[in-house]
Amino acid sequence: MKRAIQPTSIERKMRENDFIVSKTNPKGIITYGNPIFIEFSGYTEAELLGSQHNIIRHPDMPRAAFKLAWDTIQSGREFFGYVKNMSKDGGFYWVFTHITPDFGAAGQIVGYTSVRRCPRADAVAKIEPVYRAMLAAEQAAGARLAIEAGTAVLVDVMKQFELSYEELVFAL
Ligand SMILES: Cc1cc2nc3c(=O)[nH]c(=O)nc-3n(C[C@H](O)[C@H](O)[C@H](O)COP(=O)(O)O)c2cc1C
Repeated sequence: MKRAIQPTSIERKMRENDFIVSKTNPKGIITYGNPIFIEFSGYTEAELLGSQHNIIRHPDMPRAAFKLAWDTIQSGREFFGYVKNMSKDGGFYWVFTHITPDFGAAGQIVGYTSVRRCPRADAVAKIEPVYRAMLAAEQAAGARLAIEAGTAVLVDVMKQFELSYEELVFAL
């Protein structure tokens, strides 16, 4: 079995003009990564291509955030969100991501494209405690009920500010 990478506190910061781009097939298997994606991930192109996109998943990210992302893009809509990713060496980098479905000639989803840019530091500072609360609720609920528990925390935050998910993301 592959040994889990230990997360470290070493942060890589995206530069103002960086765009991290990757593409997947409909199942989330990476089919393309631009040079900046390869640089930030710390993996080689050969390691990335053919791997699940969760290869750079950071353990601090709540599962409910990815559930929301997948529900959104699988229904043909675009998704915006802040994501903390983990590089091969255990370091982390925050991104502001936009994921869109790629449609075939018959209107079917043939894959997904994600373009990420440098997130505003103040927005990351605001979303971090929300993700932390979501993760804590997920861990307390146990694997079977994790996503419901994490989603409930996010829904509470949305209710508190009377915002939809997308409005919340853009209000950060
Ligand atoms: C185009 C695309 C880009 C994605 N980018 C990321 C990413 O940068 N980081 C990440 O952790 N998950 C990303 N995901 C989501 C992963 O597929 C996966 O759902 C997530 O890492 C959670 O892993 P898990 O489903 O194994 O819990 C992306 C998915 C798609 C379709």
